[in-house]
Amino acid sequence: MKPPPVDVSAWLKKTKSHFIAGHTVTAPQAKQIETTNPCNQNMLAQFPIADLPMIDQAVQAARTCFDDGVWVRMSARERARKMREIATATREASVELATIEALDNGKLFTEALGDDLPDCSDIFDYYAGWTDKHYGETCPVDFGFTNFTVKEPLGVCGLIVPWNFPLLLAMWKIAPALACGNTVVVKPSEQTSLSLIRWFEIIHEKVDLPKGLLNLVLGDGSTGALMSQHKGIAKISFTGSTAVGRHIVHGSADSNLKSLSLELGGKSPNIMFGDTPDLEKAIDRSFHLIFSQKGEKCSEPTRFILHESIHDHVVDELVKRAEKYVCGDSFDESAHQGAQNNRQQFNKILDYIEIGKREDATLRTGGEACRRGENAKGFFIRPTIFTDVKSGMRIWNEEIFGPVLAVTKFKTDDEAVRLANETPYGLAAGLWTRDITRAHRISRQLNAGMIFINRYGCYDFSSPFGGFKESGWGKEMGLHSLDAYTKTKSIWIAH
Ligand code: NAI
Ligand code: MG
Repeated sequence: MKPPPVDVSAWLKKTKSHFIAGHTVTAPQAKQIETTNPCNQNMLAQFPIADLPMIDQAVQAARTCFDDGVWVRMSARERARKMREIATATREASVELATIEALDNGKLFTEALGDDLPDCSDIFDYYAGWTDKHYGETCPVDFGFTNFTVKEPLGVCGLIVPWNFPLLLAMWKIAPALACGNTVVVKPSEQTSLSLIRWFEIIHEKVDLPKGLLNLVLGDGSTGALMSQHKGIAKISFTGSTAVGRHIVHGSADSNLKSLSLELGGKSPNIMFGDTPDLEKAIDRSFHLIFSQKGEKCSEPTRFILHESIHDHVVDELVKRAEKYVCGDSFDESAHQGAQNNRQQFNKILDYIEIGKREDATLRTGGEACRRGENAKGFFIRPTIFTDVKSGMRIWNEEIFGPVLAVTKFKTDDEAVRLANETPYGLAAGLWTRDITRAHRISRQLNAGMIFINRYGCYDFSSPFGGFKESGWGKEMGLHSLDAYTKTKSIWIAH
């Protein structure tokens, strides 16, 4: 087995702690939790679970920093400079952070380094540029008054992130929260806390930041639940399952009605019409999106809706590609797909595969774990393709979050739209056609927050990311994240 490019074994052995007001903090009696490498189930490290007193301490540190005004009243130019220093420190540590991410998450090292890490640093550069550009408005009110608005930070923002893009999704939230002048308490997933722990150490070594600006609490769902109920937290930004999103709504409702941004699940359709341009390229791209990062992506296209004229050809091509796929260790250069992140997720995916078989969908390839030789203990699952999937089947409606594709066919445009819109989710949708009129018409008929025409999975810091229906509330990226981390104050002056 190839060793990781950076030897992090000594670092893994070091005690892991919360990070509050610029220091590591440990409660001697705290319950500990283990994190393992999903490619072989070897234990990587242990860390404590934050209880209420620990969360109180973190929130208090963030509040004190906010109230002192050291960050919010720092000149925008200086705040931007600090954020660029964070970007640089993150960039310089990319290989080490990608190594830790791959070990803890099970994704390929090349995916962590190539897909995730560049954006982890660049997003700080991007939002550094926004620190002095979030304007208010001058409102055209009646003569005798002047009325204008200002954008103010919210205060302490609680950020709760999942395990599929552990560092990246934390950065998506931390960067705009800081740009707007807020202070932060962030909680990674209990499955993948290590990259964020290491990032905190690196940032605080390299960048002189106000104490209490960034605070890290480690823990599981119980810690997240306490954060969502905490009256000292002004906002929660959450990415994760729809089920936990609902708990967070209750936590907010039962405490201080804190504002919420929720980036939840998806079951996104990919519609290929008979006139798909450059069909082979479209198949390559679609295949890559469903199966890269072992299918643990909320916006990936998990339902392919194929016109009957191309259905058989597209399926054959997808199956051919799937059968060449090699599952293997994160650092194995011949592997195309790493391990599912955790046992619960692994079992959930295998259960859905059994449900698909029972529901009488046709299993065209995969459909089993892949645990031979060196992979014997890893949470590996073969890329799986079901065809003849029908409306109402559970594998058609429910988020599986793994390398499992459901395929169906259609005759008319209206039928394609009906099939695309019939799940409770509405995160993204793709369509492929040469017909510009059809592309415009159908993109308006699809009930999803992001529509991709002739290239699924476009993404840019300047473009809003987020879904409709049970895929969540609000958008991230661009100006949308600035709105999410500020409040608008209206000020009147009578002449
Ligand atoms: P999850 O939603 O439970 O975990 C996400 C985060 O929420 C973690 O930091 C977790 O500690 C925290 N959390 C758990 N319970 C909480 C509570 N009651 N209050 C506040 N925070 C809480 O995700 P899980 O269970 O690990 O995965 C289950 C399913 O969620 C997956 O199979 C997948 O379908 C979906 N998922 C979706 C993601 C997305 O990007 N939309 C990411 C991860 C999972
Ligand atoms: Mg892990």
